[in-house]
Amino acid sequence: PVIPVVLCGGAGTRLWPLSRKNFPKPFLKVGGESLIAQTVKRAASVPGCSDLLLVSNEAYQFLLADECNPVLQGKGVVLNQILEPAGRNTAPAIALAALWAKAKFPNANPVLLVLPADHLINPVGAFVDAAALAIQAGQQGQLACFGITPTAPETGFGYIQRDAELATVPGVYKVKRFVEKPDAKTAMEYLASGQYVWNGGMFALGADELLAGLQSHAPAVAEAAQTVWQSASTKPAPKAGGTVSTFPADLFNTQPDISIDYALLEKADNVAVVPASFQWSDIGSWAALAEQCAADAQGNTTQTEGAGQWINIETANTHVRLGNRTVATLGVDNLLVVDTPDALLVAHKSRHQDVKKVVETLKKQG
Ligand code: GDD
Ligand code: MG
Repeated sequence: PVIPVVLCGGAGTRLWPLSRKNFPKPFLKVGGESLIAQTVKRAASVPGCSDLLLVSNEAYQFLLADECNPVLQGKGVVLNQILEPAGRNTAPAIALAALWAKAKFPNANPVLLVLPADHLINPVGAFVDAAALAIQAGQQGQLACFGITPTAPETGFGYIQRDAELATVPGVYKVKRFVEKPDAKTAMEYLASGQYVWNGGMFALGADELLAGLQSHAPAVAEAAQTVWQSASTKPAPKAGGTVSTFPADLFNTQPDISIDYALLEKADNVAVVPASFQWSDIGSWAALAEQCAADAQGNTTQTEGAGQWINIETANTHVRLGNRTVATLGVDNLLVVDTPDALLVAHKSRHQDVKKVVETLKKQG
């Protein structure tokens, strides 16, 4: 079996004021549908899956079930949830997902298709084709990532250096080197070399190989996950089909806080990459989101979540996110304007990466 494991954890601080504790990035609507609903729908289109596993904070159990169950209805795919008392980063989350999969299918080696809940991917068909290749490689013991053609020396991504094509799965390549979040100088060198692609943050791997890989490269993660899993309480989901697993918080929080990229992808020697032919954005900032909206002749883009309207007079290259209020812009350009009921962001578009400073400032105020 194939189990899509959807990771829904990060806070997305560069999307303030929309993305915060009670409204994290996966709930953001792009093109009318939340990113999490789009992710789950896309995952359910991958052949061979009957169970989907969502790993998220316990605070989002019902919100997420309400977003995902309607999308899965009639697709023959059941929603299961692992609920974290607090996020311990992606390595522990994925290790627990592997243990869940082994408990569910004790006599098989299910392939986990790990997917972040907050990426925008189009078209779905190209994703499904690439995922099928990754799963095939995963069935042969490979840790198959998705390679995205880089467009800038971004320092927030993993970089993958490609090697020879796998003899057994044409279209999938061995990976010579995986470097998570290089510094700016290194990222520039990688981009200039033309030998590197970005890591798309998704991968396919057998649950057995995942657990064995963690055991050899990050034993503290593997062992803590085993202990935590033994304390799991798994019950039928309150509404549709699947199960919900919960854990005692004090034990859960003893797990090391480390991402799968550092814990496994940088170290393992069975890493492979499927070049992605789909469009991919991790919607890391308002500028990335604006790029996904159709622009008018002046380069303006807009999103509407409420009844608000935009009075736009002589405005250019500006992105406006409307809530219920009327927003007017006059004689300005290159702005980001994000209106919500209790907070308003006005920023220069070029400063989109710095929006996280607003969150840092608010945090300091407590
Ligand atoms: N359930 C759960 N628990 N999910 C988590 C946790 C956690 O503790 N921490 C992060 N996640 C989720 C995030 O919500 C996101 O969907 C995904 O896991 C990846 O985490 P990020 O924190 O967004 O990672 P990143 O963007 O810094 O880097 C990763 O993604 C890049 C592509 O977007 C890496 O895999 C990079 O190599 C990659 O290029
Ligand atoms: Mg991310």
